[in-house]
Amino acid sequence: MHFRTRAIHVGQHPDPATGSVIPPIHLASTFIQKGIGIPAEYDYARTGTPTRHNLEETLASLDDGIRALAFSSGMAAIHCVSQLLTPGDHIVTGTDLYGGSWRLFHKVLAKQGITVTAVPTSDFDRVCDAFTDCTKLLWLESPGNPLLSITDFDACVKYAHARGALVACDNTLATPVLSRPLSSGADIVMHSATKYLGGHSDLLGGVLVMRDPQLAQTLAWHQNATGAVMGPLECFLCSRGLKTLQLRVLEQSRTALEIARFLRTHPRVEKVYYPGLEEHPGHLLATKQMQGGYGAIVSFEVNGDPLAARKIVTLTKIFHLAVSLGAVESLIELPANMSHGAYEASARLACGIVDGLVRLSVGLEAFEDLRDDLDQALAHTDAV
Ligand SMILES: Cc1ncc(COP(=O)(O)O)c(C=O)c1O
Repeated sequence: MHFRTRAIHVGQHPDPATGSVIPPIHLASTFIQKGIGIPAEYDYARTGTPTRHNLEETLASLDDGIRALAFSSGMAAIHCVSQLLTPGDHIVTGTDLYGGSWRLFHKVLAKQGITVTAVPTSDFDRVCDAFTDCTKLLWLESPGNPLLSITDFDACVKYAHARGALVACDNTLATPVLSRPLSSGADIVMHSATKYLGGHSDLLGGVLVMRDPQLAQTLAWHQNATGAVMGPLECFLCSRGLKTLQLRVLEQSRTALEIARFLRTHPRVEKVYYPGLEEHPGHLLATKQMQGGYGAIVSFEVNGDPLAARKIVTLTKIFHLAVSLGAVESLIELPANMSHGAYEASARLACGIVDGLVRLSVGLEAFEDLRDDLDQALAHTDAV
């Protein structure tokens, strides 16, 4: 079946008891056992529920995996992957990375004796140089958040596997519509389901998808042991969001490309970060590695002046000033103060996430309305 058919039908069967086209939401926290310690298919909601199971089946299919796990947040999913590591292990990760991931790797895991080296993963040689004999995990994000850098999955996976390390890819920005890292050989795909998978700014969730049953089982064991599972109402909302995922992501990506082209020619804009633009250093690789578009996140700098950027994000009327991304509503924010505020300032600046960087999450509104909204906000930079 094609992607959009699977998004609607895999794991989402009508209810045989009532004929309801939509599977019911199972809220039960516990399930009757056949005998003492003899559970039926389900026993306790932390371990699994029919509603979570349905969603996980759809998710595994969309990312070309064999099993998916749904978590209470994206960070809970990343944390679960980190449970595979033991003190003394080393992670190689990117510098263009969601702020919460940076905090988990550099602040939380550091206290558990796990070391991290962050390099621009768009530079394959730097990735190779960062490996040590203790490297057990390569954590990739492509496009990166917020600078939209593009990383070569095929090359990185090949190298990491030769060095005996697992590869996990945060696929939140690309979604399985545009990118399937498991098909490049990655071991784990992670999503913040809070973003495009849910797609409507009304749920918090995270996802891991695996292609190896043994690895999937180990992660499921850790998920059950630590307990950060997605609740049934969120599972239902996410399943509903997935049905329109492809339509939303393709359309939002098309509008984002138009917004990037508009910003590129705007006299108040100094630099635009978007892999769909020919001048983006990762454009050719993105064209090869992504299918159907370049995603719906666009970042830009306003004539290098942080004050102007601060003004613009408060002046847009359709773009709401808020963290998060990936929903039907367009959002605008300053990564340095908001989504990437968890970075140490010096590390953030060294990564190129400057104070004047503005990040847009392009939603489903009409391009003309979004363009005019940015145009009127940019016009006020004259007064700074
Ligand atoms: C790329 C990326 N990964 C992970 C996360 C964390 O996900 P959550 O907020 O659902 O915990 C985010 C959140 O913004 C994100 O943008």
